[in-house]
Amino acid sequence: MAKATYTKSEPSPQHPRIAIAVMAAGKGTRLKSKHPKVLHEIGGKPILAHVIATAQKVVPAADIFVIIGHEAERVREAVAATGVKFVLQAEQRGTGHALMVARKALTGYDQVVVLSGDAPLITAETIKRLRDFHAAQKATMTLLSADLDNPYGYGRVIRKGGRAEVQAIVEEKSAAPQQKKIREINSGFYAFDAPALYEHIDRLSTANPHGEYYLTDLAAIFQRARKKVVAIKTEDAGEVLGTNTRAEMMMLDARLRLAKCRELLDAGVTIFYPHTCVIDSDVEVGPDTVIEPFVQLLGSTKIGADCRIRSYSIIGNSTVADHVTVKPGTIMEDSRVAAGAVIGPYSHLRSGSEVGEGAHLGNFVETKKIKLGKGSKANHLSYLGDAEIGDGVNIGAGTITCNYDGVNKHRTIIEDGVFIGSDSTLVAPIKIGRGAYVAAASCITEDVPADALALGRARQSVKEGWARQKREKRR
Ligand code: UD1
Ligand code: CA
Repeated sequence: MAKATYTKSEPSPQHPRIAIAVMAAGKGTRLKSKHPKVLHEIGGKPILAHVIATAQKVVPAADIFVIIGHEAERVREAVAATGVKFVLQAEQRGTGHALMVARKALTGYDQVVVLSGDAPLITAETIKRLRDFHAAQKATMTLLSADLDNPYGYGRVIRKGGRAEVQAIVEEKSAAPQQKKIREINSGFYAFDAPALYEHIDRLSTANPHGEYYLTDLAAIFQRARKKVVAIKTEDAGEVLGTNTRAEMMMLDARLRLAKCRELLDAGVTIFYPHTCVIDSDVEVGPDTVIEPFVQLLGSTKIGADCRIRSYSIIGNSTVADHVTVKPGTIMEDSRVAAGAVIGPYSHLRSGSEVGEGAHLGNFVETKKIKLGKGSKANHLSYLGDAEIGDGVNIGAGTITCNYDGVNKHRTIIEDGVFIGSDSTLVAPIKIGRGAYVAAASCITEDVPADALALGRARQSVKEGWARQKREKRR
């Protein structure tokens, strides 16, 4: 039933066709950046991606229209995978102009909810409240407002004689001193009656300090046309905060990450000193996992239950199963670790490392594109790259897979139960057969058959009395 609300093909007064327009064409001059504002990241993903993800909880992607302009192709590419539609605002002549160029795309909808692509903390609940309040009020324009202690820089809401209805929105630069004292601000989120929006939008002018078409001027325009303009206040003013400056952006990033920690704490995760941890929005962590101070969990990382992630570890886009211990200073990227494994301290798992159940990777072990089997161990000072290592293998300290000949990469295969003595170099391509031994300090250049012992080093020679004679000669 709820789905009918979104479906374009079944409009009715109870189920209006609703589109969401996201304004994301602006440059973000105040950031002093060569990157478009909406692609700056907070909580580990672009600001715009947060807004789109929230919009998708209200309408399907096909009814979301992102208005892009500044660095349009980069912005499009960054969020195209969501399936939303795009409208090009080639020249950015203001928020009113952004909606003007979307006219064709939005024809056929009954209601348009407009979101600011630079205000990423908005929640789906608030958007739905805005949508429903607009419908219940039978308003032409409904704006989401908020009371801010410091309203500087925002448009102020001028109420009609203190009532629910709105007379006008006055931008900071045009506000009279008395108006600047108003703490109720325009959040930049609106609901419009779509046909009325496009009937009146051409009345906007650029006669203002910025020489832009202000979407906000529509409040006064509708008032003059005797159309109903109302405002609904957010319950949490923090939701509408924008990211116009780097300082604002960092405040929002901190807010988002603390909220993420709170969500994880509520779900049964222990996080010591949460304000020292950097946990991205999409990260998942299982219950009874303990996260120590100064840990970063980034991107699409998933950590299982009953794990301990010790301090100074940075884990990106990786999956860690249950009962895993990650000791201090471990760096992990695009990797998978199976249950019960013990990693670190100071292990570096590069892309494509797959660590099997109960396996150990220890101090200063670097891995890349490897499979390490069940219960296998590489506890100290090794480089293991492009290698398939079976179950129950012991890799001695200082072992190196020589996977690169200066042009190509080659694979190393180490079968189940192999013992590699310390300080061995395995020159790939190479295969060490099941159950074989490689003597310490060997340089292995030829395959080793199963159950064999391979020695790849010069035989030791001992010169009796040599050192004593040398000492005596010196005297
Ligand atoms: C706007 C509102 C202001 C409100 C504030 C809330 C106007 C005139 N003012 O001001 O009342 O308090 O938001 O955050 O609307 N954009 C386009 N095309 C353009 C210009 C802007 O798509 O031509 C996009 C921007 O990328 C941004 C959003 O619209 O995502 C808001 O624009 P911005 O310049 O940040 O407006 P504010 O000055 O914050
Ligand atoms: Ca803004």
